[in-house]
Amino acid sequence: MNQPLGLRLEIFPTEKEMGDRAAAIVLACVAGKPDAVLGLATGSTPVGLYQRLIRTFENGKASFRQCLTFNLDEYFPVAADHDQSYHFFMHRQLFDHVDIPESSIHILNGSTNDPAAECAAYEAAIQSAGGIDLQVLGLGQNGHIAFNEPGTPFDSRTHLVQLDANTIQANSRFFGSQAAVPRKALTMGLATIMEAHSIVLLASGSAKANAIHAMFEGEVTPDLPASILQRHPDCTVLIDREAAAKLSDAAKERWQARVVS
Ligand code: F6R
Repeated sequence: MNQPLGLRLEIFPTEKEMGDRAAAIVLACVAGKPDAVLGLATGSTPVGLYQRLIRTFENGKASFRQCLTFNLDEYFPVAADHDQSYHFFMHRQLFDHVDIPESSIHILNGSTNDPAAECAAYEAAIQSAGGIDLQVLGLGQNGHIAFNEPGTPFDSRTHLVQLDANTIQANSRFFGSQAAVPRKALTMGLATIMEAHSIVLLASGSAKANAIHAMFEGEVTPDLPASILQRHPDCTVLIDREAAAKLSDAAKERWQARVVS
């Protein structure tokens, strides 16, 4: 019997197995629907996934030629050619190495002088693409998804946000100092993300253990934006043992976690 859909949890011994599983999910989506609309994330966590997608493409076993992509977020203000922009990151980590046409890539413009119009146009582009088939998510230490920080309303659409002190601190590792991290970002909203037909969220390492604990054992609340995923009809959460460290046995049972040893 197939496992019922909803929110599902899979726990892997290490980040490597987690990445293998994430790649298998993305590749199965593209194999089943070559013109899939993929929602993509930045940050450290999906880098291994993107390396696997590149390897599979290079081996001639996958093509992204017909796919469309929409990234979750972008700093604001930031120029696309800034080496910490998400435009730059995505090209270096994935797009420069696979066959997706540049015209099929969508990333919010962090140098727009009209953020509201940029966000509205992004929402319209997602709609006219028929919605996102598979959305890849990471998880903030504070429970954010995309740049929807704690307190973001569940009905939010793509919008301009003020980054949390916690996020600025966590991302300062890429910028060299906290002072250099942009204070704002453009991000898909929680309602935008929840409309994705299916979702795969990745989280690894002990820094994510509190957020994973709250996501599976706490209430569904805007204080922990990722908790809204409890209400998604088809969301797979892939984590490593370190990120699972604070989950109780009761929670693993309740969510029928698949524990891979
Ligand atoms: C990035 C994004 C963020 C990150 C999160 C985790 O596009 O939307 O929510 O997924 O901050 O980042 P890492 O993977 O660097 O720990």
